[in-house]
Amino acid sequence: MPWIKQNTIDNPSTSAGVFVRMLLEIFAFRSLFRNTKAAFNRHASNKLTYSWEIFLWVGALAFHYAFLVVILRHLRFFTAPVPGGVQFLEYLDGIIQVGLPGLFLSGPVLLLAALFLLSRRIFDAKVSYISQAADYFPLFLIIGIAATGIAMRYFTKVDIIGIKELTMGLVTFHPHIPEEVGGLFYGHLFLVSILFAYFPMSKLMHMGGVFLSPTRNMANNTRAKRHINPWNYDVPIHTYEQYEDHFRDKMIEAGLPVDKKE
Ligand code: HEM
Repeated sequence: MPWIKQNTIDNPSTSAGVFVRMLLEIFAFRSLFRNTKAAFNRHASNKLTYSWEIFLWVGALAFHYAFLVVILRHLRFFTAPVPGGVQFLEYLDGIIQVGLPGLFLSGPVLLLAALFLLSRRIFDAKVSYISQAADYFPLFLIIGIAATGIAMRYFTKVDIIGIKELTMGLVTFHPHIPEEVGGLFYGHLFLVSILFAYFPMSKLMHMGGVFLSPTRNMANNTRAKRHINPWNYDVPIHTYEQYEDHFRDKMIEAGLPVDKKE
């Protein structure tokens, strides 16, 4: 019907539309952006109202991008020479040039965003009600990782040369244990190891799951095109006729109606 306009991003019928929907979902968390929250409006005789929930989106975006930048910057521990892209990222992340060693914005942003996501689970009664251990645990881990990382870089200081010897030893399969790099580093690495081990069996796999999500990655063209499941096999079925042939005597005996008498 021509008077119903198609939203080609929300409801794409072509692969190009699906591609745009996936891009926006992966890089801008579009469906989270469109998220609403329900509440009883006290000023309008407790009517159920829906309002735009922007802060979860802002917090999630800050959290994920800061996490990505921190991880990419950490490549300097595992590469020699450090790639130009990582150095450029360090330059951009440290652009406000505060303190010595210079402040990388992504560190505190990661910590604050993770704390915001945690406080939402604790203080928002509705979110708290549906929160489980699997929701808190990764947040605790990431808060611990960011806090130990920040403490190492800006407060207690660690032996970076020793750490680089260790990390380069790991990636070149020539393990080397440096002396005295500082206990905080081992705390940091321990929490990171737990996070990485926990990752594949946890809800953190939404990182891969988003690519496999049919409501995002399939064109909505089911009325224009017939899709047949390619791995469907012939299922031996038992029709009603066969059923009745099988049980006709017993059905007649029990007084049940039958289609054919004989
Ligand atoms: C999930 C992975 C990780 C996250 C989220 C993380 C997070 C952080 C953060 C936020 C900092 C504060 C300084 C900054 O912003 O760079 C930091 C520092 C640090 N991290 Fe990590 N880290 C991770 C993995 C690792 C790994 C695998 C290693 C080494 C094996 C490592 C070694 C260090 C060291 C040595 C510092 C201090 C850097 C300095 O003094 O300049 N981190 N980390």
